[in-house]
Amino acid sequence: MTDAAVKETNAGSNRDAALAGLYEDVANKHMFPFWATTDDVTNDEVRQLMATAKALPYKWSYADDIEPLLRLSAKLISMDDSERRSLILCNPGLKPRRASVSTMYTAYRLNDPNEIMPPHKHSPSAIRFGLTGKGNFTGVAGEDITFGPGDMVLTPNDAWHNHGTIGDEEAVNLSVLDLPLIETLNAIHFDHEYTEIENGVTVKKRTQTANVPDDYSQAIYGAGGMTPRWVDHYRGGGLSSPMYVYRWERMLEIFDRFRDVEGDPHEALMVEYTDPTRGEPVFKTITFFAQMLRPGEKTLPLRQTASLLVAPFEGKGHSIIDGERFDWNAFDTLAVPGGAWCEHHNDSDTDPVYMFVASDEPTLKKLALYKSWGQTADGDITRLL
Ligand SMILES: [Fe+2]
Repeated sequence: MTDAAVKETNAGSNRDAALAGLYEDVANKHMFPFWATTDDVTNDEVRQLMATAKALPYKWSYADDIEPLLRLSAKLISMDDSERRSLILCNPGLKPRRASVSTMYTAYRLNDPNEIMPPHKHSPSAIRFGLTGKGNFTGVAGEDITFGPGDMVLTPNDAWHNHGTIGDEEAVNLSVLDLPLIETLNAIHFDHEYTEIENGVTVKKRTQTANVPDDYSQAIYGAGGMTPRWVDHYRGGGLSSPMYVYRWERMLEIFDRFRDVEGDPHEALMVEYTDPTRGEPVFKTITFFAQMLRPGEKTLPLRQTASLLVAPFEGKGHSIIDGERFDWNAFDTLAVPGGAWCEHHNDSDTDPVYMFVASDEPTLKKLALYKSWGQTADGDITRLL
């Protein structure tokens, strides 16, 4: 187009048609026009560029939403039909992605009794947290782990594992995975070809043979700060904490010991699950906490760049997330997207609240993107980290 033609086009209504054509061409060729022509909201390209799908504050109710569907799916889909029967919590702001917040999802699972599924491994890291029953089972890298309510079991990046239920009693657990993050990084890998060496020959197996005693993790690492030197701490893929089960009983001992301390105004009493050999989060990508609110306790508003999945485990209360109130009960899950203000309230004057919390904080810290702000009792905002 000559300068004169451009001038003429700019001056006339032809420009509108030319622009419309230009935008259509740009979109058809899978590009985005990153410039602003007016201050009009619909033409504000910066705003459009930012208008990607964002996780919303949200609550999934266990009693009203999750449990009835879990029971119906257990009736209709047997473990013979599918190796997996999990209900994944999908954040309505992130549709159609299967993600509860941008980087993680929570799934609930009710296994058939006396059923252990074949081993597999994958690059996403996951944990299981027992909700009901004593017979939840996960074998991890040759350690058979039976777990009950409040126990947390790791199935780390690249560690072979098999899930199931031991005994006739029904058992429900929830899992948290960093799969949406690993998906974004295009680094998902699954492997179902489990093998063991028998008489010097590699053979395919449908079951995982235990190679350490039951509850090895607690026996070797349960003392905390005292680490046996005669064992190899390289386990599974060597990419996580070598302690694969964290028992709720031990967590309760900590809360009982410190229940009368002042705690943190924004977090009350919060305990992080750590790798006993390194003192770091159990995974490189995501971390986990147990949080206690004493009777009647409420936290001051906290805002952080990390996204959280909060599962109340005992007690009842409510949370205010970006101004919206969510009343919750045990076993619900709350999505607290990064950047949202959040405060928790224990609504009972007599009973404590315990919550299980997952966070993508380790990823954000590694990328120098972790920041947090707190509100004081007077409503002033201060930068915390
Ligand atoms: Fe798995």
